[in-house]
Amino acid sequence: MAEDLCKEALKRFAAQFGGDKPANIAAFAPGRVNLIGEHTDYNDGFVFPMAIEYGTVIVGLRNDTGKCAVLTCADVGDEPNLAEFDAPKDDKPLEPGEPKWANYVKGVIDQFDNGKGIVPGFNAVVMSNVPLGSGLSSSASLEVATLFFIEQLCPDAEERTESERALLCQQAEHKFAGVKCGIMDQFISVMGKAGQGLLLDCRPPYSPRLIKLDNPNVVFLICNTKVRHELASGEYNKRRETCKAAAEKMAKPSLRDASIHDLEMKKSVLAPDEYCRARHVITEGNRVIVSIQSIQVGDYKKFGQLMKQSHTSLKDDYQVSCAELDKVVELALQIQGVYGSRMTGGGFGGCSVTLVEKSFLQRTMDKILSGYPNAEFFVSSPGDGAKVIDLTTLGV
Ligand code: GLA
Repeated sequence: MAEDLCKEALKRFAAQFGGDKPANIAAFAPGRVNLIGEHTDYNDGFVFPMAIEYGTVIVGLRNDTGKCAVLTCADVGDEPNLAEFDAPKDDKPLEPGEPKWANYVKGVIDQFDNGKGIVPGFNAVVMSNVPLGSGLSSSASLEVATLFFIEQLCPDAEERTESERALLCQQAEHKFAGVKCGIMDQFISVMGKAGQGLLLDCRPPYSPRLIKLDNPNVVFLICNTKVRHELASGEYNKRRETCKAAAEKMAKPSLRDASIHDLEMKKSVLAPDEYCRARHVITEGNRVIVSIQSIQVGDYKKFGQLMKQSHTSLKDDYQVSCAELDKVVELALQIQGVYGSRMTGGGFGGCSVTLVEKSFLQRTMDKILSGYPNAEFFVSSPGDGAKVIDLTTLGV
């Protein structure tokens, strides 16, 4: 799939920059679906995402002009699809600006370059089959693909570990996109493995653990509501602040260190929203641990129950769901072969994820469409993480 996307991107590259100087570097990084453990990552807690077989490719060529030209093939609304900016110099680092979509690319270049002026000018084309802003980590896949691309452009730069790569991309998003995201999306995009989910402890040193997800009789169905509410990134940063305040009032380094007992003991010093947000984070952390035990013994019924509890908690305590997500979750849960369903990702729109017996997949999609005709579905096995694509093997 990455290879097909890459071939398309190569055609666009030739059309945009001329066929006489073809791209010679390419990288792919996947999006992800989080199975359980939502809004726990920036609270030092546990998450359990899997990489999907959809992602972003970037193809390009060094141009020795000191300028970078990046074309995105995505629908970026009113913004131009071509971003042009000077390559960073030691006395003139990159800055975020317009078009906004390019800030993910520029942010990664800036973090990689780190004031050294080592990243040269280049031409590139970005192509993705992860729907933008859908909660499937289109941004992390763009960041990680960019990093794997820039690493090839600068082969003499220091080697980074997988964790360092994920952290670099997270910093890019904090500094250039203004979203104080956690570490889950970048980690899974770097570290995903086919047939496996990733149990990640988001407290350094992170201790990632791959968990087999290879039962051919069950699938995770992703349903895109295709709505994205404007408040998403502002509310996201606000949730993060509220969690921090709650942890401080409870005299804990982070909410990961708090139990439900601690929470009840401190209820009187917490504002009502701090109490509810903390209750979600604490109960969600517990759900991740139990969900891993259940998936390892094939207890999908239990895993499904935990997904349902997760959705209710995100809706009522964390208040990051919305009517459209509640609707597609509720419709899915009406089908007998569905074990569980929940919103996935940051929320306020985007996608749900549903664990369903394969033989009930079509019926589940039909049911969702009957009550929510705008739904768009993705079915994906757990995919591999980011990789360099060797263009000589593509046969183009
Ligand atoms: C977004 C962020 C992640 C994580 C999720 C919610 O995807 O990028 O770091 O916080 O929201 O679980």
